[in-house]
Amino acid sequence: MQHQEIIDWLRESAPIRLDDLWRLADQTRQQYVGGEVHLRGLIELSNYCVRLCGYCGLRAGNAALRRYRMTDEEVMASVRSAVGYGYGTVVLQSGEDPQLTGPRISDLVRRIKRETPLAVTLSLGERTYEELASWREAGADRYLLRFETSNRRLYDQIHPPRPASGSNAERSRFAILEELRRLGYEVGSGVMIGIPGQTYDDLANDIELFARLDLDMIGVGPYLRHPDTPLADRNAWCDAPGGQQVPADETTTYKVIALARLVCPRANIPATTALATLNRAAGRELGLERGANVVMPNLTPQKYRALYEIYPDKACIAETGEACHHCLTGRIRSLGRQIARGRGDSPNHKARSTPDNTSVQ
Ligand code: 5AD
Ligand code: FES
Repeated sequence: MQHQEIIDWLRESAPIRLDDLWRLADQTRQQYVGGEVHLRGLIELSNYCVRLCGYCGLRAGNAALRRYRMTDEEVMASVRSAVGYGYGTVVLQSGEDPQLTGPRISDLVRRIKRETPLAVTLSLGERTYEELASWREAGADRYLLRFETSNRRLYDQIHPPRPASGSNAERSRFAILEELRRLGYEVGSGVMIGIPGQTYDDLANDIELFARLDLDMIGVGPYLRHPDTPLADRNAWCDAPGGQQVPADETTTYKVIALARLVCPRANIPATTALATLNRAAGRELGLERGANVVMPNLTPQKYRALYEIYPDKACIAETGEACHHCLTGRIRSLGRQIARGRGDSPNHKARSTPDNTSVQ
């Protein structure tokens, strides 16, 4: 798809035209990854973070937030509940927390792999090559690291370097994504939609980059203002001028999900919690009908949920793992879709790692 065509879709407002986009994305999803919806049990290990991202409520500078770190036993209890609910994957997610050391995560991954049949996805921020390699060695299957925006200037503004890093140049997120690929992980990335200063041109570049990076998983969601972060300061942060600013709204999020499906037809694409936060009644369902094929029920123990406050008023913070399980399975069935069994590996990753034998036939 051409750059201008992506921009035109992102700016499209006629419902009748948008119905064409939804239909095309839904058909493409059905054709390439089928009708089944994969459930990934999300475990938010720790809300400690050393970073100062301008948009995120977990940023180190947010003194208003009470911090927690789950014990290994608490994590294993959540992992076992994932097995009990029939999920094929657990996602271990946290802020960039140095107390979650390389060896500690390796031990946890080994234990999960030894005691359960689950696939393990990690989403632990920008970690060293040695850590990423050792976790892969321990059995981790997938890694999620969003690049947030492909506009380098905007990225640098919202994402200062690690405070302690001094003059040590950090690897870019793209270098890390490349490392993950070389290590054999299924690689996931994505962006926020409607960051102040993000233009339609930027977002179209992001979507084109999904295809160039050949992503196995793509997670996108609306930017949601957190009052205890620098980006919430309307005097300091301005929208892009001249009608160029991308809105952080529901329809734009569906458009990005649909376009991501069209440019990366075999990727696994979730209907995210951020989307459900904008429309609790039907956000996830509409995401699943406009290109997505994955949802991530929350398995974080109830007492910690409200503390993983990346943005305010997050969906599902009052619920238990069991409540989210029943809620989501009911929602999927109401769409006439099946819940997948098994690990739900990315068909894109499988297609890449299976040698192309068409030429020898
Ligand atoms: N609004 C929406 N998404 C956010 N994230 C972080 N802060 C916010 C926010 N205020 C997203 C980022 C990050 C992911 C874990 O959560 O894209 O990569
Ligand atoms: Fe958590 Fe619906 S998925 S309440």
